Amino acid sequence: MSRLLILGPLAGPLGVAARMAQARGAGIAQADTVPAALAHLRGPGADLTLCHVGLDVGALLRGMAAERMACPVVACGPEEASAEAVAAVRAGARDFLPLPPDADLIAAMLEAASGLGGPEVAPVARDPAMLAVLARAAQVARADASVLITGESGTGKEVLARHIHAASRRASGPFVALNCAALPETLLESELFGHEKGAFSGAVAMRKGKFEQADGGTLLLDEVGEMDPRLQAKLLRAIQEREVDRLGGMRPVRVDVRILAATNRDLVAEVRAGRFREDLYFRLDVVRMRLPALRERVADILPLAEHFARRFADANGLPRRMLSPAARATLAAHRWPGNVRELENAVHRAVLLAEGHEIGPEAVELTPAEPSAAAAGGATGVEALVGRKVDEVERDLIIGTLSHCLGNRTRAAEILGISIRALRNKIQDYRASGLAVPAAHGYAAD
Ligand SMILES: Nc1ncnc2c1ncn2[C@@H]1O[C@H](COP(=O)(O)OP(=O)(O)OP(=O)(O)O)[C@@H](O)[C@H]1O
Ligand SMILES: [Mg+2]
Repeated sequence: MSRLLILGPLAGPLGVAARMAQARGAGIAQADTVPAALAHLRGPGADLTLCHVGLDVGALLRGMAAERMACPVVACGPEEASAEAVAAVRAGARDFLPLPPDADLIAAMLEAASGLGGPEVAPVARDPAMLAVLARAAQVARADASVLITGESGTGKEVLARHIHAASRRASGPFVALNCAALPETLLESELFGHEKGAFSGAVAMRKGKFEQADGGTLLLDEVGEMDPRLQAKLLRAIQEREVDRLGGMRPVRVDVRILAATNRDLVAEVRAGRFREDLYFRLDVVRMRLPALRERVADILPLAEHFARRFADANGLPRRMLSPAARATLAAHRWPGNVRELENAVHRAVLLAEGHEIGPEAVELTPAEPSAAAAGGATGVEALVGRKVDEVERDLIIGTLSHCLGNRTRAAEILGISIRALRNKIQDYRASGLAVPAAHGYAAD
């Protein structure tokens, strides 16, 4: 759940924005004045601040910069307040949100702030590979051990981290996430460990870091492989001793935090290259969970697509529509280099583009896959296949060819160089395993 701080009166349109954000799963805190907002940011903290232009957005941003607090600020106000909007953005606000608020803009704003849009949902999973990951997550959730979550970009590492938190004894405590790659070193240090009053020239008051904010809950260190060596040492100490040193602090503060770390780098290689501390690596890697790429869990593609189709229809106030068989076949045959995030974006576009009573293949725009081995020929094509199972490659080739032929079995069998009968048997197997196979369009088929 992202934590939203609203600065301004909740009576008017700002209150409507607050309820919309709440409906998207955000936790809301409110402040009436800039000093009260700064005090909140020093204490419980927030993932995003929404500040009405009727208040001094500039003073808020200057105060935050002086105190090295990195929470993004979005200014908001009536559409006519364009001069104030420009001033706020010049002063460092990330964006301007016109009031009365638009539900889509609120959703986009939350998504940009936390990388997570919709309300908390359990991860969608049907493929045995993913069900195994979730079964293991249920086991490890109960323990307090650190978990290192690895996986390609967009595979759902943050989703899994939130799921582990929600299934743990700490579920009622805070879940705090920090992207270690997004901030320069000094800001990251302040974000993690906080500071005492007077620690540096702008430090007018004590401020808690994310470790303290996550006390009693879970702290997700995202992109942990990007942290510089000095902070790695400080992080190691915090994890080992279960206490943090605020910047300029005289004595350590005890914290009770479970650490989850995520990375799409190969941390073992980083350790070997001398860029990541081995002792920290072993602290984080007590339990390792690897999220399979979407192409390694093809049975998840359609359930995820249906889930996103419902979600984006609801979010855009459109009727819920089914994906047509041809659209399903197109999705099932794609290689998904961008994993679940790519699928989510593709379905979002399709929901907006589709015109009929169902979502057809014409609305599904996919970035063309790498040329297949058959098309490319030669060593490079074959190398792209190394590491994959013969059955998988065959299945992708057959389904891809079928969808290329709009489901015409005769033509597909011809191209594939197999008998129609052999092709039908394959199709039956794939259907039995829950895969959508392109249906024939305008052709006499099976
Ligand atoms: N199993 C799932 N069920 C539902 N939605 C999912 C699932 N996995 C991922 N998503 C969605 O896909 C998107 C990417 O997920 P997430 O941000 O967790 O990936 P990530 O591995 O952290 O990506 P990155 O490496 O880019 O940080 C999010 O919008 C998330 O809501
Ligand atoms: Mg992530």
